[in-house]
Amino acid sequence: MELFKVLDQMEHEEVVFCNDKEAGLKAIIAIHNTNLGPALGGCRMWKYATEEDAIRDALRLSRGMTYKNAMMELPLGGGKSVIIGDPRKEKSEKLFRAFGKFVNSLGGKYITAEDVGTSPEDMKYVAQETSYVAGLDGKSGDPSPITAKGVFLGIKACTDWVFGQTDLKGMVVAIQGLGHVGMSLAKLLYEAGAELIVTDIYEDRIREAEREFNAKVVNPDEIYDVKCDVFSPCALGAVINENTVDRLNCKIVAGAANNQLKDESFAERLAEKDILYAPDYVINGGGVINVSIEVSGIPYSMEVVEQKLQIIPKRLREVFTMAKEKGITTAKAADIIAESKFKKKG
Ligand SMILES: NC(=O)c1ccc[n+]([C@@H]2O[C@H](COP(=O)([O-])OP(=O)(O)OC[C@H]3O[C@@H](n4cnc5c(N)ncnc54)[C@H](O)[C@@H]3O)[C@@H](O)[C@H]2O)c1
Repeated sequence: MELFKVLDQMEHEEVVFCNDKEAGLKAIIAIHNTNLGPALGGCRMWKYATEEDAIRDALRLSRGMTYKNAMMELPLGGGKSVIIGDPRKEKSEKLFRAFGKFVNSLGGKYITAEDVGTSPEDMKYVAQETSYVAGLDGKSGDPSPITAKGVFLGIKACTDWVFGQTDLKGMVVAIQGLGHVGMSLAKLLYEAGAELIVTDIYEDRIREAEREFNAKVVNPDEIYDVKCDVFSPCALGAVINENTVDRLNCKIVAGAANNQLKDESFAERLAEKDILYAPDYVINGGGVINVSIEVSGIPYSMEVVEQKLQIIPKRLREVFTMAKEKGITTAKAADIIAESKFKKKG
């Protein structure tokens, strides 16, 4: 990879390679843009196949955070960090404290939090070395239920746009992934009267959704083919790709997963099929809203969270309106709106 070329293309400000042999730490902190404030974004721990994969992930995710934070009207820029390692086997106090020291050395330019593969528990160790960490237990905590709430409000904005109704009673929603966000979302949808079709790779999660929410279960690969009103990706990225896009039998794609489209061309493909796509970094902004309350120092309460989450359906309506008026995809419209907020003029 020609790193500086990529940084120029993606417009990153700074990338830090963190190496602590004794602690076994190999991490990358990517700061994409700080025009609106310090770069906030979680710390992912993953067993990457190659170091280049880890760098690419950090670059892609940090850029996404700039767009997401701008869209959520937060006084924050975008950043993200990745720790290379197996989260089930290689976590230790030493590792996270070493990571915390690197975060601290940036003097507040980057604020970390939990992400895939890390937990509020791990962030406690990070917090022993730096105050530039959020999402701690006893403060804003696990953001996933709030992310789910935001996705739920976003789905309603989508059904309103497509079917002219926010009432989800009888709507069929297919959820891919019943993890921290997917299971909370399933509960909210079930309580709102939606019919659920679900999948996961773990049997216990599927059985829980079947038992608790009367969900119909399908195999992981079958979720793309089911007839539904809303397909909600809540597991992996790049699930809308050349193998899946023509199989979708839905009117709306709206879920929590980051980077749902394999690339921009799939936004066009969805539009051609008359499927409304809720841009991922808009609909899944609830988690960062939750964390931002902790960072801002405002006393944390569900009331404040609920009020701030209203930005999600509002922003989606703006995105859908712009896409319709300009004849562009919703993904493109979201980018234009986000860039108008964080890019320096002139
Ligand atoms: N947690 C948050 O607050 C938050 C915020 C914004 C975005 N996201 C994104 O939302 C997605 C889900 O986050 P999470 O915190 O719930 O993660 P998670 O790891 O708790 O859940 C993911 C679930 O997907 C399942 N899964 C994995 N591969 C699958 C496959 N091929 N088919 C079906 N299911 C599969 C896993 O078994 C797991 O249950 C991720 O893409 C994450 O980046 C999460």
